[in-house]
Amino acid sequence: MPLAFEDAGSGTAVVLLHGFPLDRTLWDAQKQALSRRYHVITPDLPGHGQSPRLPDPPTIDGMADAVNDLLDTNGVTRPVVLGGLSMGGYVALSFASRHHERLRALMLFDTKSAADTPEAAAGRERSARAIDASGSIDNLIDAMVPKLFAESTRTARPALLSATERLMRSTDPASVSAALRAMAVRADRTAELTRITVPCLVCAGEQDAISPPEEMREIARRLPNGRFVSIPDAGHLTPIENPEAVTEAIEAFLAGLDD
Ligand code: MLT
Repeated sequence: MPLAFEDAGSGTAVVLLHGFPLDRTLWDAQKQALSRRYHVITPDLPGHGQSPRLPDPPTIDGMADAVNDLLDTNGVTRPVVLGGLSMGGYVALSFASRHHERLRALMLFDTKSAADTPEAAAGRERSARAIDASGSIDNLIDAMVPKLFAESTRTARPALLSATERLMRSTDPASVSAALRAMAVRADRTAELTRITVPCLVCAGEQDAISPPEEMREIARRLPNGRFVSIPDAGHLTPIENPEAVTEAIEAFLAGLDD
């Protein structure tokens, strides 16, 4: 299942995975900056942006395998630096488990290693059914968008909120419900963190209400080679709320990798 993607630059491959229900443009600022020194690849995850949906049942592991196929079909043979935000982080952790030999380093942004609680999974199933029945993701957008951003972003940058809303609205509702179901059944990767020995960067928006920074700190603590960076003036969508700080954290991390 070929994924749509963009790439720029040359050198070590840095693959950046977006969150739900967004697309590769989440990483535009980082792609532009990092491609001066690296080969930056930004895929649209299955069912998002211009990528087709996975066959049923949709899974996070299936998304990780689709990223692996993308590397194969594009001749990326050397180990990559893989980063993912939120749902993209779930995919990155799955990739670290299923395709660890391809991983040079891992970057986790505003995500979780734990699986959904039964209550959270049931809530996702209810949303998925409502979306399937109505063919609309309006309710999901209304509930989700305010939680994605820091208070300062919400008040000072309404245009960023409306652009994010427009982007979400462009995602096919059937793909949104498929992704909800994939996230609901994802594996708990917490116990695997101690086995990820490659260098890891863990970044959290200071005001992330969805992936609490304390949980992200704990992920970094469990990773044998983890480094935690707090992103100021940002909630959940750090790459667009504070692009400079995210780029700076990535650049400092990549500079420390001996190639
Ligand atoms: C995301 O930003 O990808 C979502 O908040 C992830 C989730 O719903 O668990």
